[in-house]
Amino acid sequence: MISAHLTVDPHFVVGPINRRLFGSFVEHLGRCVYDGIYEPGHPQADANGFRRDVIELVRELGVSTIRYPGGNFVSGYRWEDGVGPRQSRPRRLDLAWHSTETNEIGLDEFATWLREVDSELMYAVNLGTRGVLDALDVLEYANTRSGTELSDRRIANGAVEPYGIRMWCLGNEMDGQWQLGHGTPREYGRLAVKTARAMRQVDPTLELVACGSSSAQMPTFAEWERIVLEETYDEVDFISCHAYYEPVDGDYASFLASAVNMDRFIDSVVATADHVKALRGSSKTINISFDEWNVWYQSRYADVDRITDVDQWPVAPRLLEDVYSVVDAVVFGNLLISLLRHADRVTAASLAQLVNVIAPIMTEPGGAAWRQTTYFPFAVTSRLARGVTLELKLDSPSYETDRHGVATVVDAVATHDESTGSTAIFLVNRSLEEEVEIVVDTSILGDVGIVSVESLWDDDIHAANTMQDPERVALRPNDSARIADGALRMTLPPVSWTAVSVR
Ligand code: AHR
Repeated sequence: MISAHLTVDPHFVVGPINRRLFGSFVEHLGRCVYDGIYEPGHPQADANGFRRDVIELVRELGVSTIRYPGGNFVSGYRWEDGVGPRQSRPRRLDLAWHSTETNEIGLDEFATWLREVDSELMYAVNLGTRGVLDALDVLEYANTRSGTELSDRRIANGAVEPYGIRMWCLGNEMDGQWQLGHGTPREYGRLAVKTARAMRQVDPTLELVACGSSSAQMPTFAEWERIVLEETYDEVDFISCHAYYEPVDGDYASFLASAVNMDRFIDSVVATADHVKALRGSSKTINISFDEWNVWYQSRYADVDRITDVDQWPVAPRLLEDVYSVVDAVVFGNLLISLLRHADRVTAASLAQLVNVIAPIMTEPGGAAWRQTTYFPFAVTSRLARGVTLELKLDSPSYETDRHGVATVVDAVATHDESTGSTAIFLVNRSLEEEVEIVVDTSILGDVGIVSVESLWDDDIHAANTMQDPERVALRPNDSARIADGALRMTLPPVSWTAVSVR
C-alpha cells in the first residue's frame, strides 16, 4: 500500500474562499433551459413552468452564482427577443448550436427562477454580433430603477425591482474562430474596453469579466490574455478561464491528473495578468473568473451530436448529454480542489453547465430528475469549503503521465472556518490500482474529532447513474477513518474522492 502524509495548519492561509467559486452556468443550449429547468407540462412544474424537482436539486447542490445566457449562444443572441409578451417573441436560428430558439425564456423568467434557487445572476453580453449599445441597453433594462424607456419596459413586464446584476461577462470565448464575431485579441480588447467604459458610466461599481482564452491549448493562449489585458486592465476586474477535460485514447492515468493541467493554466494566467500589472505600474490586481470548467466528452459532440444539416434546426435537441462515471467524478472533484487551492486569485468560477448539458443534474421530459456522479463532489465541497483555503504540506509519491507530466498520487486541499472551528480536507487518490494510507497531521488544531467522512469510489470506475438506475452511484462513508494522537488516518481506495470534516 502507498502512504502519503499531509499537515494542516490554520496559521498558513492562501486566501478567503469566495462563495462565487461555487457558481454554475445555464446556456440556451440543448435541453438545459427547455425540458431542463423549464417544462410547463411536467407534473412537477410550478405556476411559471419551472420544474420543482430540478429547483430542489439545484438548491441542494449549493450553487452561488449562475452565468447566463451563454456560452457560444450569446454571441448571436438578441436579449430583447426574450422579454415582453410571450406570444410576440420571435423564433430565431441559434447558429452556435444549429437549433431554433423559441425565446419562451428570457431575462425576466430566468431572474424569477434564480430567486427560486437562491442564486446570483451573472450576465453575459453579446460582443460577437453586437456591441456597446446592446450592452448598455440590457444593463439599463436590468439594473436601472425606473423612468427610462427600458427600465419602464421591465416594470411593465412585471419586474418592478431592478435586478441589480453585479457580474457581467464582456462576451464569450472571443478567441475561438467558432465564435460569431471572433477577432484578434487587439480587436476584442478594444471592443471590450469601450463596452466596459460605457457600462461603468451607468454604474462604476459593476464587476466586469474580460474574455480570456477558451482553453490553454489555444495557439494564441497567454498572448491573448496579455493583449486583452493591455487594452482593458483599468476597466475590468476579472479575466476568464475555460477548461474541459476528457480521457484521450483510454489514458486514464493522464485523465486523473487533469487538475495538474488546471493548476498550470491558472498559474500561467495569474503570471500573465501580473506581468501586465507590472508593465503598467498598476496597484490593481486582476483576478480569475474560471467561468467554464468540467469534464466534457467533446469528441462525442463532434462525432455524434453535432447538427450540420441546413434544413435541421430543432428546438431543444439532446446535445452534450454526457453520462458521468465514477472516474469522471473523481477528476471533477480534483478540479474543485485545484480551484480552491487558488482561492487567492480564482474568486469566481462556473461549473459548465447545470442541467442536461454536461451537467450534474439530468431530467427526462415528463419523467424523473436525477443526480449524476459529479453532483456529489460539487454539493459536498460547496457545503464544507468555508472560510479560508490553507497552505498544505503534502508528501505523496508521484507518477509520470503522458499528457500532464509528473503528478502526485494524492492531491488534497484544506479549508478552515474560524467562525465554526471546522476544518475540511478534500482528497483524491489518482492511482488506478493502489489504495493509499493517508496520515493527516491535525495536532495544531487541538483536540478535534471527525464530524463527517464522505467518499466516492466504486469497484467499477465506469459506473454511472442513469434514468433506469438513478442511484447506482452515491456518496459512501469511509469506515477506515480514525483520529487519535493529533493525526487523522484513513485508507483512500484507488480512483477515489473524499471529503473529511473535523472540529
Ligand atoms: O459549455 C459549452 C460551450 O463550451 C460553451 O457554449 C462555450 O463557451 C464553450 O466552448
